[in-house]
Amino acid sequence: MTNTLLTIEKLEVVYHRAVTAVQGITLAVDTGRIVALLGTNGAGKTTTLRAISGFLGLDDARVTEGAINFKGERIENRLPHENTRRGIVLVPERDKVFPNLTVAENLVVPVPRGTTAIERRRREALVYQFFPQLGALRNRIGGLLSGGERQMLALASALVCRPELLLVDELSLGLAPVVVDDLLRRLAEIRRELGITILIVEQSATVALEIADYGYVMENGRIVLDGTAERLRRHPDIQEFYLGLKSGERRSYREVKQYRRSRRWYG
Ligand SMILES: Nc1ncnc2c1ncn2[C@@H]1O[C@H](COP(=O)(O)OP(=O)(O)OP(=O)(O)O)[C@@H](O)[C@H]1O
Ligand SMILES: [Mg+2]
Repeated sequence: MTNTLLTIEKLEVVYHRAVTAVQGITLAVDTGRIVALLGTNGAGKTTTLRAISGFLGLDDARVTEGAINFKGERIENRLPHENTRRGIVLVPERDKVFPNLTVAENLVVPVPRGTTAIERRRREALVYQFFPQLGALRNRIGGLLSGGERQMLALASALVCRPELLLVDELSLGLAPVVVDDLLRRLAEIRRELGITILIVEQSATVALEIADYGYVMENGRIVLDGTAERLRRHPDIQEFYLGLKSGERRSYREVKQYRRSRRWYG
């Protein structure tokens, strides 16, 4: 029997009491799974992760409808630190690391006060198990890291919080494909060896569906398609939609649907 860790029901999020960014989405993330939330610019992916992690208030946004359940508890109005303590950790889209602190300092800051020395060492060991390169970069200033190293440090900073649910926003942004592949492999390892559940947000379906078990596609604040990663990879709409992206023409999912329909009906 599968065990659901997170459920979102008919969630609506509004910025500045004016802009509805998420319009009644429903989704579920089972324990130990990697779930992908896909979609193009402005679809509402980051907003959804902010709602789960509690960071909406910083952007003057509010959950106006619906519910978020984590381990059976309602969390849609919780503060970020409460959610982190309960095991929900976000690797944000921007400002992933402290640029003026060293790598080692970046990894100390997120560990809660009162954590025992033994537990601190255990968490540090985890970092170097999954990201051995960070050992050699211990004294490097965060701001001087390469994009790939910075993303590694961001994932490591999340790992020292001992997440149950790891939320990763745009892992692949601005990185070379070979670097992205390496990071994906590590994420898959983290899930396999630590049993951490992962919700990954990506514009790139090829990236996210490589490691995900299940995926949701968002557009204009709504979920327009969902299914197993295998089904989504083979889905003609996804292929056409993302092929559209590859050719540089940013067509929306809905436009592709309309295009397909018009071809079926009139072509
Ligand atoms: N701080 C903000 N204030 C007002 N509107 C916002 C704010 N942040 C996001 N929005 C709006 O909410 C909608 C969803 O944005 P969101 O950042 O969640 O999209 P996204 O799917 O993460 O896009 P991207 O792939 O570009 O990161 C967009 O229309 C955006 O303009
Ligand atoms: Mg985003």
